[in-house]
Amino acid sequence: MAALTKTVVVTGATGAQGGGLVDALLSAGSKKIRGITRSCSSKKAKNLAAKGVEVVEADLGNKASLSKAFTGADELFLVTDFFAAGASYEGEFQQGKNAVDAAKEAGIKFVVFSALEGMPTDVKEKLPSLGGGLTVAHFESKNAVSDYLAKSGLSYALLRPCNFYENMINFTFYQKQDDGSYAFSDNMGTAPHAWHSVSTIGLTAAAILEDPSKYKGKSVPAVGEHIGLPAMAQIVSDVTGKTVKYAPVSDEVFASLPIPSAQNLANMNSYYKQWSYYDDLRPMSERVETGPTFKEWAEAHSKALKAKLE
Ligand SMILES: NC(=O)c1ccc[n+]([C@@H]2O[C@H](COP(=O)([O-])OP(=O)(O)OC[C@H]3O[C@@H](n4cnc5c(N)ncnc54)[C@H](OP(=O)(O)O)[C@@H]3O)[C@@H](O)[C@H]2O)c1
Repeated sequence: MAALTKTVVVTGATGAQGGGLVDALLSAGSKKIRGITRSCSSKKAKNLAAKGVEVVEADLGNKASLSKAFTGADELFLVTDFFAAGASYEGEFQQGKNAVDAAKEAGIKFVVFSALEGMPTDVKEKLPSLGGGLTVAHFESKNAVSDYLAKSGLSYALLRPCNFYENMINFTFYQKQDDGSYAFSDNMGTAPHAWHSVSTIGLTAAAILEDPSKYKGKSVPAVGEHIGLPAMAQIVSDVTGKTVKYAPVSDEVFASLPIPSAQNLANMNSYYKQWSYYDDLRPMSERVETGPTFKEWAEAHSKALKAKLE
């Protein structure tokens, strides 16, 4: 086997997106992988180490720890975590700024940042304000990090993920109905939107890192499929053997739910409805990598989906 010459540092390596890239890089076998975690003793960190990943402790909230963790690496995959950063614009921007500054200090040669899109002003103006001029805070904080990265002088590409299929296991609340069926609700509506598995993020980021000069300064969309929630509910029914339906609610009802960041998430779903998100931003023709369709993913994750319906 040829010697692995380049080291990629992966933030969020124990999480969905970074984990997707770690898996893609391990399959490709062409780079050394250094995974960042806040705790090397967590079960997820130990699992990563067992796969042959160099696991290093650092905190996105602490630039000095990042500078140390990035030293000697060539490339960086950067995922910031809005929710762990106190679900705040300022918190996520600070994470990104710390990582960009540390990457510069450490002499990182190429950064792939997992960003999100900018919002057209006419859509933004229609959404309820979160205060401070924000409407979808976790999009706007990532945009601010993208701008900061673009001005940093570092070579970079932006990867733009969309909705994760994995949300159907990690976040969707399936409510049992009197007739034994299940329903889940949000305000995204019934029209198709852009979705993908986190493996598509991993494959896309790995493809960018295989040929950085091709993607330098570009914004690369990830998409697995354009699909609507009613069709996804039918597929979940098919793979679990239970009847599952999507029951859309209004923006106002979703925003009033007792869930963290409810208004922010209601605004995000409302934004999907108002803008032809998938046509404009995620044409299938621009895919760098595909990954599974929702049906393929659901078949592979039927056990976990079924466990949500017990
Ligand atoms: N769900 C979606 O549909 C979707 C779509 C597009 C974008 N996003 C974005 O995805 C981001 C979250 O990524 P994810 O879903 O891959 O994460 P995740 O699965 O929730 O895991 C969070 C990861 O972030 C790491 N982390 C959190 N705080 C950290 C800190 N202070 N320092 C170092 N590492 C830290 C965690 O590492 P340790 O716990 O090991 O330290 C873990 O690896 C959010 O910003 C969200 O806006 C989500």
